[in-house]
Amino acid sequence: MELYIDTANLDEIKQAADLGVLDGVTTNPSLIAKEKIDYGKRLAEICAIVKGPVSAEVIAVEYSAMLQEGRERAKIASNIVVKLPSTVDGLKACKALSDEGIKTNMTLCFQGLQAMMVAKAGAFLVSPFIGRLDDIGQEGMDLIHQIRTIYDNYGFKTKILAASIRHTEHMLRCALAGADVATVPFKVIMDCMKHPLTDIGVEKFLSDYKKAFG
Ligand code: E4P
Repeated sequence: MELYIDTANLDEIKQAADLGVLDGVTTNPSLIAKEKIDYGKRLAEICAIVKGPVSAEVIAVEYSAMLQEGRERAKIASNIVVKLPSTVDGLKACKALSDEGIKTNMTLCFQGLQAMMVAKAGAFLVSPFIGRLDDIGQEGMDLIHQIRTIYDNYGFKTKILAASIRHTEHMLRCALAGADVATVPFKVIMDCMKHPLTDIGVEKFLSDYKKAFG
């Protein structure tokens, strides 16, 4: 499974990139708002650090405005992926941008048919939001399974990018379900390498060694 970091914070991106296993970055307007910085400027900074796909979301909600904004975002760097909402206007913009050779990430996907439609429109990525479905009492992981089945049934090449991941259990279950990519907050990336028995084991090996050899 590919690993993206879900943040617009440069320190977090640098630290995650230093691990050597980071494949890409996703941003959204809320994440940029936290950083209080110009969106285009921050995207250029991120693309200078990470060479894999960097998702840049449009603010527009209407088809022609989305197209125009998507084209502008795509000029920032060759690894920009234009992130569009999974709406009717977003679907049309996805088709138009894909036909122009611009990669898209269809975000805010909450049901299997949205994923099927955007795949037909040529989306590079689809982002099902697991955590937000859990928040309203639905099983977010079911959506990942549904999309995997639909895409495998018909050979769609769109990658499933599991999003709105809140903890390592989500991430583990995404890997087991065959998600192509997970976009994950910095803390959850770091949690992937934590287990109390690992720490206890390291301490025990060290103390046994010191006892024997000083
Ligand atoms: C994905 O690209 C989104 O930025 C993100 O995963 C949303 O997660 P949230 O539900 O924690 O805001």
